[in-house]
Amino acid sequence: MVTMDKAELLEQIAKEVRECRKCELWKTRRNAVPGEGNPNAEIFFIGEAPGEQEDKQGRPFVGAAGKLLEKLLESIGLMREDVFIGNVLKCRPPHNRDPTEEEVELCTPFLDRQILAIRPKMIVTLGRHSTRYMFSKVGVPFSSIMRVRGEPFEVDVLGLRVVLFPTLHPAAALYNPRLRTLLEEDFKKIKKVADRGFSLSRREVKLDEFFKRARRA
Ligand code: URA
Repeated sequence: MVTMDKAELLEQIAKEVRECRKCELWKTRRNAVPGEGNPNAEIFFIGEAPGEQEDKQGRPFVGAAGKLLEKLLESIGLMREDVFIGNVLKCRPPHNRDPTEEEVELCTPFLDRQILAIRPKMIVTLGRHSTRYMFSKVGVPFSSIMRVRGEPFEVDVLGLRVVLFPTLHPAAALYNPRLRTLLEEDFKKIKKVADRGFSLSRREVKLDEFFKRARRA
């Protein structure tokens, strides 16, 4: 049997993304944006969907939010080449509108396959759309990004045990110094978890336990 290595698997997925016509977004896209990064990445970042610059270039996070993401990565000693950066949707929704439920359902099998190919130790969701999606995969209700951001959760997802770390979307912090400070603090926590070899401290809990506690509170 011929088995593909991680890079080949990712290239195969990217090819399918570029040819995809499963939803209507192919009609308005200039380029699909499969995602990119290190096939051996330990940390997988998930954004929402390509914006104008990403649609032009076919690459994730290359606009203003991308510049901020690069700065945040740099602040914890990482470059974009060290991690993998993907999105919930691979094509730009017109006028950057929110993804529809149908688009998410049709597009996310690509994201799932990318996660399975890479087998990251940590998944960082940027903003509410990717956080809602990953929470749905672990069967936990999602209400607000502000309520769950900045906490590492141990989860079993797609048969993998990973640390799920929700944080804000860099675009939300571009013109909001308070949110930018929170995002900077969250990145410091990402580094702490990575420096510990992606194990959680006793104080940190499994996602379902967090919700049981929250319900009791
Ligand atoms: N915002 C996103 O969510 N993803 C990108 O790739 C760019 C901006």
